[in-house]
Amino acid sequence: MPFDVDRVRESEFPWAARGEVIYLNNASTGPLPDRALRAIRDFDERRAAPYRLSDDLQFATLARGRELIASLIGADVGEIGLAVNTSYGINLAAFSLPLGAGDVVLTPDREFPANVYPWMQLARRRGIIYRRIPTCDGAVDEEALRRELEDPAVRAVSVSWVGFASGYTIDLEAIGRACRARGAYFVVDAIQGLGPLTLDVRACHVDILACGAQKWLLSPWGTGFVYVRRELLGQLEPNVVSWMAVKGSDDFSRLVDYDLTWRDDARRFEFITLPFQDFAGMNASLELIHELGPVAIAHHVTSLADVIVLWAASQRDVELVTPSSPRQRAGIVSLRMPNAVAVSAALKKAAVSHSLREGAIRLSPHFYNTREEIRRTLGVIEQALES
Ligand SMILES: Cc1ncc(COP(=O)(O)O)c(C=O)c1O
Repeated sequence: MPFDVDRVRESEFPWAARGEVIYLNNASTGPLPDRALRAIRDFDERRAAPYRLSDDLQFATLARGRELIASLIGADVGEIGLAVNTSYGINLAAFSLPLGAGDVVLTPDREFPANVYPWMQLARRRGIIYRRIPTCDGAVDEEALRRELEDPAVRAVSVSWVGFASGYTIDLEAIGRACRARGAYFVVDAIQGLGPLTLDVRACHVDILACGAQKWLLSPWGTGFVYVRRELLGQLEPNVVSWMAVKGSDDFSRLVDYDLTWRDDARRFEFITLPFQDFAGMNASLELIHELGPVAIAHHVTSLADVIVLWAASQRDVELVTPSSPRQRAGIVSLRMPNAVAVSAALKKAAVSHSLREGAIRLSPHFYNTREEIRRTLGVIEQALES
């Protein structure tokens, strides 16, 4: 069922409804819907006089967050650990998976550095071999990745679901299946994919999935999560150890009965204390996403991206960096053109929020954007190219 974009804009993004700006920069920072802002303010008001808050309310907020995330990605609640960013989950994978000297870890080349430096550090600290598979202008060579997987020394593959600059969207199911068949761990950075795309972590054979909520999940900075596959949970130990990672730590009357027995679920990886007020905001945003429907959102985002892709094909001076096939893209469409810096300045002047990444104009519309906004944006680019 499609949703009413104009109504969502009016109720949740009034600045967009007023036309103050055309915000096509969700791949950078997602806006907060009004309901998220209200939830954060309400929490903060209680926090100002903490007697209005209870431990129960604080921990119920986190529990609700895990539920909303689990149902979004087809996971069990016990497989979700809340986290403050994407990097946390990638570091968890790097330093908690049983990887040692001589084991090979693969990532595509041109990844966002959050999925590079932890592996470089693991190579330095534990002597793993970190190998990057060349890409063609950011497009992942999935065939080459599968070929490399035939090397029995390959023990883990870590990929961005959607490339931050190219928008290239990897076939998670196919790569996940190949990893599982070869016994290699499959680690996914989902931050640029979850929201514009839907996900079933089991169908994609994901072992560990890291995701900050600050972009496409329209949530505060400092919110996000890590998914750890149930079958792996018991085998992995936290790399950084929180006082609430252990069984029995919910009972605050026995905190000094020290017992280093990990929780059975992914809460063993949570690094408490977390910013409760921000997770209250995340919950409100995720409720909105669930209400509108993740599938309906994905259709809407694809239809907006289609407009940009079709337009690019008709422009002599514009080269599409993102693949034109809808199966290989999500919400990011990157466009290369002569004098992108001047075009970017023209967009800025016309109040169109966007990014300049790797020399290309990156547009990243979400469910609250309209076709009219896309057409106006493309008109600004055309004019800038003519002048
Ligand atoms: C692919 C990708 N991963 C990770 C991040 C950010 O990582 P973190 O949430 O740890 O700040 C970005 C942000 O730009 C990104 O594009």
